[in-house]
Amino acid sequence: MDLGTKPGRRKDFFNVSYAANHLIMKKILITGGAGFIGSHVVRLFVKKYPNHKIFNLDKLTYAGNLENLKDIEKYNNYRFIKGDVVDESFIFDLFLKEKFDTVIHLAAESHVDRSISMPTEFVYSNILGTVNLLNASRAVWQNDFTGKLFYHISTDEVFGSLGKDGYFTETTPYDPRSPYSASKASSDHFVRAYHNTYLMPVVISNCSNNYGPNQFPEKLIPLCINNIINKKPLPVYGKGKNIRDWLYVEDHAKAIDIISLMGKPGETYNVGGLNEWKNIDLIRLLCHIMDRKLERPAGDSASLITFVKDRAGHDKRYAIDASKIQKELGWKPEHKFEEGLEKTVDWYISNQQWLRNVTSGDYLKYYEQQYEKR
Ligand code: NAD
Ligand code: TYD
Repeated sequence: MDLGTKPGRRKDFFNVSYAANHLIMKKILITGGAGFIGSHVVRLFVKKYPNHKIFNLDKLTYAGNLENLKDIEKYNNYRFIKGDVVDESFIFDLFLKEKFDTVIHLAAESHVDRSISMPTEFVYSNILGTVNLLNASRAVWQNDFTGKLFYHISTDEVFGSLGKDGYFTETTPYDPRSPYSASKASSDHFVRAYHNTYLMPVVISNCSNNYGPNQFPEKLIPLCINNIINKKPLPVYGKGKNIRDWLYVEDHAKAIDIISLMGKPGETYNVGGLNEWKNIDLIRLLCHIMDRKLERPAGDSASLITFVKDRAGHDKRYAIDASKIQKELGWKPEHKFEEGLEKTVDWYISNQQWLRNVTSGDYLKYYEQQYEKR
């Protein structure tokens, strides 16, 4: 939908050049910034935009880890706020106090397996949390949307499951099939509804599977790396034939930056790696890299591969057509998969204390030590 003729459009977007736009101090709220993708986005924004104030709001669930942001926590333009997006009065008070210009919303429960065992948590954080942020933005912006943006980060999983052929485009109908993707689809619908109903300037991006440093070892790639290091079985669901499209996390963070600057209000952008892998092939490649890096005999890691019961309702294939963002905003992935995977493996091997902390729960103490003592 084109908002160009309606009141409430992002006037700065159309009237001021991007460079000039960035000389004006903005308050940017990033939610879920202590998580995997969020921490890469926070780091990019804090370093790239010294004139802006970057707020990181995170509940610090099991997936939120402030150790991910140790290197930037002393920057003057960065502030961490511990809080729950589900807590309506807390969110309203915070928005009324800080009057953010931009909201980049990543906070969510993000793991499909957890959503299968505890779906209600996903309804609270992913749906209600998003609606609370939309309502608070609306209350503070009061229909003056000059220079304002609500940017919602979503997933390709909302589109459902592909067969052998075809790709998800921005117009593919929604067909979520897990409690996780259903909660993300619902939140996307709310964001679009606030654009249509209240003219709120929103953008949404739907991205494929991310991998890279700082990902919690419940997801496929870090789980396998951690298990190989510790010589534990590598659980492959079903026959390992499901297909995912993998994107290096820093490439996603750059896409988020570009969309936040140039994304057209009301639009959706699909972000993907053009990089499809069958799970079993990916795990075999990872095993090969791990043998080499850990100086173990060839085939050592692959001997850990164990086929286990399939995930309930396991989506067969995801694949993104990212031609819109490439053509309209000039983004494309910079990392080749083998290069990104090597970087990722190197990071986990050099940060085994991080892995031990997140698997033992010791990382939760970091917040107490760094923040509660102040
Ligand atoms: P993550 O699980 O690593 O991090 C989520 C963060 O959100 C954590 O820091 C957690 O503490 C915080 N959080 C959760 N519930 C909260 C609440 N109620 N209030 C405040 N903070 C809360 O997730 P991720 O993989 O970094 O994903 C981030 C976003 O990107 C999610 O919205 C996810 O749906 C989306 N996404 C992820 C992928 C992927 O491959 N990981 C792909 C596409 C889209
Ligand atoms: P995951 O990293 O959980 O991401 P998503 O389910 O959001 O795509 O899983 C990636 C793929 O790997 C998915 O097809 C499920 C599969 N998988 C396994 O085979 N074994 C595992 O232990 C995990 C966590 C995932």
